[in-house]
Amino acid sequence: MTAVDARPETMAALRFPAGFRWGTATAAYQIEGAAAEGGRTPSIWDTFSRTPGKVRNGDTGDIAADHLHRMPDDVALMRDLGVTDYRFSVSWPRVQPTGRGPAAERGLDFYRRLVDELLAAGIRPVATLYHWDLPQELEDAGGWPERDTAHRFTEYTALVAGALGDRVATWTTLNEPWCGAFLGYGNGVHAPGRTSHPAALRAAHHFNLAHGGATRVLRDRLPSTAEISLTLNLHALRPLTDSPADRDAVRRIDAVGNRIFLDPVFHGRLPEDLVEDTAPVTDWSFVRDGDLEIVSAPLDSLGINYYSPSVVSAGGSGSPSPSPSPWAGAEERVAFAPAAGPRTAMGWPVDADGLYELLTRLRDELPGLPLLVTENGAAYDDYADPSGQVHDPERVAYLAAHLSAVHRAIEDGVDVRGYFLWSLLDNFEWAQGYSKRFGIVHVDFASQRRTVKDSARWYADVIARGGLTRP
Ligand code: FCB
Repeated sequence: MTAVDARPETMAALRFPAGFRWGTATAAYQIEGAAAEGGRTPSIWDTFSRTPGKVRNGDTGDIAADHLHRMPDDVALMRDLGVTDYRFSVSWPRVQPTGRGPAAERGLDFYRRLVDELLAAGIRPVATLYHWDLPQELEDAGGWPERDTAHRFTEYTALVAGALGDRVATWTTLNEPWCGAFLGYGNGVHAPGRTSHPAALRAAHHFNLAHGGATRVLRDRLPSTAEISLTLNLHALRPLTDSPADRDAVRRIDAVGNRIFLDPVFHGRLPEDLVEDTAPVTDWSFVRDGDLEIVSAPLDSLGINYYSPSVVSAGGSGSPSPSPSPWAGAEERVAFAPAAGPRTAMGWPVDADGLYELLTRLRDELPGLPLLVTENGAAYDDYADPSGQVHDPERVAYLAAHLSAVHRAIEDGVDVRGYFLWSLLDNFEWAQGYSKRFGIVHVDFASQRRTVKDSARWYADVIARGGLTRP
């Protein structure tokens, strides 16, 4: 990979603080494959991807990027890129196949080997305990709308903490509980594919409870140096106009998209306006005395996943929120306006200011809390050219713009400690299957051959320089 160029004129112009964590991120179901190995049972994503019409081309994670069998090579790739941190997720049904009872040692062994391999390569392991692959048996028992699932999650957390607790630096309880609750149970675009507004709101609360319970378990069992965190996909929201009606539309979506997690986790309270907005759907009686105290256990950092912002209005213009809506009824009279400018292959607008806006908001609302950008990246229609190269200049431009936004936030006093690029490898992009490529390393899924894209070389250079040269 590119060596550090120490000549002053080529040193990074946008230099990040010493010790800044340069990472890549993945998730178990999206890369591991080996879906039936070592006693692993189906997760809700195995079931959902087998349900006709749910995932593009009928793709499943059965083989994915075959990472379970190629892990040492994939870690070597990261070592060559010079990343300092790797964010992976632990597959619950691989580690505790029925979602109850003892651990499957073969499952835990994979993660023990992964952590060993990372440490030997000088890469800090960052483990996420839940990145959407609920054991199907727990869904059959009611899934996240049932309170017991939160208890099951804290038990599972204890098993993983027991196996990896001494060597994993950073622990993230949940990845994007908003997606798990509102896409999984609200509009059914994600597994398990249910469409019920009350179920989505119950699921959101039980995710919060699971997070709080797991945080307690981790605090009890891990060394005091361990960092305990949560990753949210906070929505960067802008009103279409400055009218009171459009600003109120932002307030509604902010409540059901952001404050539904931020307020319980960081302030131990439910957002009152959310309770009012959703009164026709639920009375929130599933929140029991003492829950919010558990949910608000102190954290060491917050992870933010950011891809693009949303422009919100009070209806009349823009497209109404899709039906069924993920917003649990709280979006009544709200419309989402199409954003101007370029888009990625996902159709998501490219707008790095949204990341800056979120980071500065969190600086003001949660002063003193270190932040990590735990996901950011872009899908483009990459292909290997006849000489075997993958040129992805749009991805490089996307990443450069977003890293510049992170740098600007740091200059403006936001305590951002690291950036995790989504994703190391092309992978199973949920409902889009293998049709969307987010990797900085290209995967030919037929041969499983890995090809380093231009963006990976570019990222290695950024890491080596400790920042960006000005465009
Ligand atoms: C996030 C998910 C991640 C990936 C990216 C593109 O919402 O956490 O697994 O699919 O989107």
